[in-house]
Amino acid sequence: MQERESFSSRLGFILISAGCAIGLGNVWRFPYITGKYGGAAFVLIYLLFLLILGLPIMVMEFAVGRASQKSAVGAFEQLTCKGSKWKIGGYIAIIGCYLLMMFYTTVCGWILAYVYKMIKGEFVGLAPEQMGSIFSDMLSRPLYMTFWMVVCVLISFLICSKGLKDGVEKITKVMMVCLLFFLIILVIRSVTLDGALEGIKFYLVPDFKKVKDCGLSEVIFAAMGQSFFTLSLGIGAMAIFGSYVDKRFSLGGESIRICLLDTFVAIMAGLIIFPACFAFGVDPGEGPQLVFITLPNIFNQMAGGRVWGALFFVFMSCAALSTVIAVFENILSCTMDLFNWSRKKAILINFVAMIVLSMPCVLGFNVLSGFAPLGEGSTIQDLEDFIISNNILPIGSLIYLLFCTSKYGWGWDKFIKEANTGKGIKFPKAIRFYVSYILPLIVVFIFFMGYKQKFFS
Ligand code: PHE
Repeated sequence: MQERESFSSRLGFILISAGCAIGLGNVWRFPYITGKYGGAAFVLIYLLFLLILGLPIMVMEFAVGRASQKSAVGAFEQLTCKGSKWKIGGYIAIIGCYLLMMFYTTVCGWILAYVYKMIKGEFVGLAPEQMGSIFSDMLSRPLYMTFWMVVCVLISFLICSKGLKDGVEKITKVMMVCLLFFLIILVIRSVTLDGALEGIKFYLVPDFKKVKDCGLSEVIFAAMGQSFFTLSLGIGAMAIFGSYVDKRFSLGGESIRICLLDTFVAIMAGLIIFPACFAFGVDPGEGPQLVFITLPNIFNQMAGGRVWGALFFVFMSCAALSTVIAVFENILSCTMDLFNWSRKKAILINFVAMIVLSMPCVLGFNVLSGFAPLGEGSTIQDLEDFIISNNILPIGSLIYLLFCTSKYGWGWDKFIKEANTGKGIKFPKAIRFYVSYILPLIVVFIFFMGYKQKFFS
C-alpha cells in the first residue's frame, strides 16, 4: 500500500477545492441559466440555496473524506462497517464522476478550440451570422471535436500523473491565480463599456415578475440544481480533497472560504457577460451558446477584441481544466483504492476509458443528432447533464446528508466532532434538527417538483 499523499499547504487545499468548484458551472452554466430565468431574482434564490443547502453539505463531504482518509468508494465502509449498504453511495459517486466528465470534456474541448481560433484571428471581421455558423460547423465535425476533447483529457491526465503535490496542487494553484487575475481585468473592461449599465441592472436588480413568468417551481428547481453543480457536491469530488487535508483547521471555516471564492467567480462571470450583452444589444437568454456565439460577436465589435476574446477563453480554460483535473484525481483515487492499481496503471486505463466515454456526447451533435432523448432539439449532452445535475448530484448529496446525520449511518456526533476539529468557524450544533430533518425534505421535495415540472406540465 502506498502512503497517502497530502497537500503541501492550506492554501493548496483551498485553491484546489475552489478549482474543483469553479468551472463551467460558474463561467458557462450560471450566466446562461441566469439569463434564461430572468436575471437578479434568480441569482437571489440561487444564493439562498448555496447558504442553506450547499454549504452544510460541503462540510459533510469534507468531513467524510477527512475522517475516512479514503476516496469516495472506500469512505462509507471505512466509517461504518465492512459490507455496509452505505457503500452504494460510493458507487453512485464514482459513476457520477464518470458521467459528469462524459460531457464536461467535450465542452472543455470547445473552449480550448476557441482559444486557438481567437489567437489565430479566425473571427476577425466576421458578420454575426457567420459566428453562429462557426459554432455549428464545429458541432458538425466529429473528428475536430474529438481532437480537442482528447487534448483536454490528455493535458489533465498528464498533470495528474505528476501526483497530488507536484502535479495537481502546483498547476491548479497557478491556474487559479491566473483565473482570478483575468477575471478582474475582464470585469473592468465589460462594466466600463458604453451602455453597460442596463446589463448590470438586469443582473443585479431583482424583478420577481420575471420569475413568475418562467414558473416559480421551475426556477427553484434550476437554482437548486445549479447550487449542487457549482459547489461540486454529491459525487465525492470534494470529499477526496478532505481526505488529503490535515486537522489543523475546522471544516466549516474552510468550506465558507471555498463557497465564497466560487460565488465570487460566478457573480463576476455574470458581470463580464451581461454588461457586454446589453452594451452591444444582444439577448442574454441565448442558452448554452451564449459564450460561444454571442460573446465572440461582442468581442468582434470591441476595440482590441481579439486580445479580449483570447483572454476570455484562456480564463474559461483555466476554470474548466482545473475542474477536470480535480474530478480525474477523484476517479484515479477511487480506481486505485478499488482495484489496488498503481497511479500509472490507473491513468493509462482511465485515459482510454475517458475518451471512449466522451464519444457519445461528441457524436450526439452530428452522427447521432437524430437521437433527441429529452424531446425535440435535445442532445445526448442535455441528457447527460440532466442525469447528473438534476438526479445524481441531489441524490448523492442526500446520501452524504443522511450518512452524517442518521444514527444508522456515521451519525451526528462523529460528524460534528470531525467537522469541528481544528481552528476556525465551527459547524453550529444548533442546526442539527434543520440539517437532519428539514434539509433532506427540501432536497426530496424540490427534486420531485422538478420532475413534475419537466415531464408533466
Ligand atoms: N463545480 C463544477 C463546475 O462548476 C462541476 C462539478 C460538479 C464538478 C460536480 C465536480 C462535481 O463546473
